Amino acid sequence: MEKENFSGFYKKELKERQDIFAKEFDLSAEEKALLVKEGSLPFEIANKMVENVVTTFPLPYGLATNFIIDGKDYIIPFAIEEPSVVAAASNAAKLSSGFETSADDPVMIGQIQVIDVDGKKAKAAVEKARKELLEFATTIDPILVKFGGGPKDITVDILEDEKGEMLDIHLLVDVRDAMGANAINTMTEKLAPRIEELTGGKVILRIISNLAIYRRAQAKTTWTKEKLEASTKGKFKGEDIVEAILNAYRFANATQFRATTHNKGIMNGIDAVVIATGNDFRAIESGAHSFASYEGNYSPLTKYSKDKEGNLVGEIDIPLALGLVGGATKVHPLAQLSIKILGIKTASDLARIIACVGLAQNMAALRALSTEGIQRGHMRLHASNIAAQAGANKEEAEKVAAKMIELGEVSQLKAEEILKDIRG
Ligand code: HMG
Repeated sequence: MEKENFSGFYKKELKERQDIFAKEFDLSAEEKALLVKEGSLPFEIANKMVENVVTTFPLPYGLATNFIIDGKDYIIPFAIEEPSVVAAASNAAKLSSGFETSADDPVMIGQIQVIDVDGKKAKAAVEKARKELLEFATTIDPILVKFGGGPKDITVDILEDEKGEMLDIHLLVDVRDAMGANAINTMTEKLAPRIEELTGGKVILRIISNLAIYRRAQAKTTWTKEKLEASTKGKFKGEDIVEAILNAYRFANATQFRATTHNKGIMNGIDAVVIATGNDFRAIESGAHSFASYEGNYSPLTKYSKDKEGNLVGEIDIPLALGLVGGATKVHPLAQLSIKILGIKTASDLARIIACVGLAQNMAALRALSTEGIQRGHMRLHASNIAAQAGANKEEAEKVAAKMIELGEVSQLKAEEILKDIRG
């Protein structure tokens, strides 16, 4: 591969880029066919979404079933590569007695960093000009204001490091149905010169914060001990399952090593819906994990308790900066389809649904982990993948998968061994 041949890659037409890519990496005809095959995201759109496009990258798109949220039935689209996530969410939703939700106003934070200041004086100057700054910020995005959003407040903190003091100015903006980055970044950039005048300092960064503490969604549900017991076909007692899940939750509260995996399980579902709706999963991920340590220790994003009947109560409270306008949500045909099947009108509706998915996903994993272990359910769904990796064709893969499950051992080595037996 000659790296010079990629210079100015972005200026080439898509077809030309595919040719260069194929030639430079000596792609076979089969590999090249992967590049030129157009999927449900047309090349023309993909080419406008990101830079240096050569093809699109499909993911499985599955539907999680059984969700009843605030009394309404939902079928929820998941875009994800991992087996058992869709099944697990559907299972926990089926076992739940329905989710109740709420969501905060969609208020995001824009940060303005000011250096070379006398902290106290500069803070006082910005606070004194708060009204003027907010009035000016309100003129920057009249459309947002027309839809009921716009700048709401300005707060100022003094930060200090070895090089001296700096201001951390927070501009709080109700961004309505946008994710908010564009509106906020424009406002903070436009405010910066006046902030420099007021503080006598130098503005460095002007950017949205992905720690969306004011834009959270909450969901709550109950899993009765009877339904939990039935889900294990009576192998475990309902009371024992509730206790086991509460013990699993204690573990996540007690150690960051477990809390991280606990939260990964929550994000399995959250990311899948965020991607299926064309939203920014990096923003959601960084916000969620940062929020998990907002009180000091990195902690689980869900909470579990027992009600007076001994049933399991699960809750989640998580920042979810999601948009329905702008970005991939508006241009990706499958993201549009996702929004349509969810039947939602606002970004807050989407946040409430996604909070339920996170909670359901977490409970499903905890139920499996604290009773029979994760491997049976997860690996049952993963077994045919493993069989294919071991070289089985479609027909053989089913047999190999079934045998591995019967033996309780799902691994490539086992698959190869069984395949050898089948082939005699
Ligand atoms: P099961 O009890 O054997 O399932 O559970 P079932 O056959 O009795 O079916 C119950 C329901 O589950 C079904 O109801 C479906 O809703 C759903 P029905 O529609 O039959 O009335 N379901 C399925 N949906 C779609 N496709 C399927 C399917 N099978 C069942 N093939 C199940 C099986 C996998 C659901 C269960 O074992 C489970 O929930 N396991 C947890 C799996 C999991 O959490 N996977 C995530 C990946 S592991 C991970 O990355 C996270 C982790 O590290 C996080 C952490 O540590 O906390 C574990």
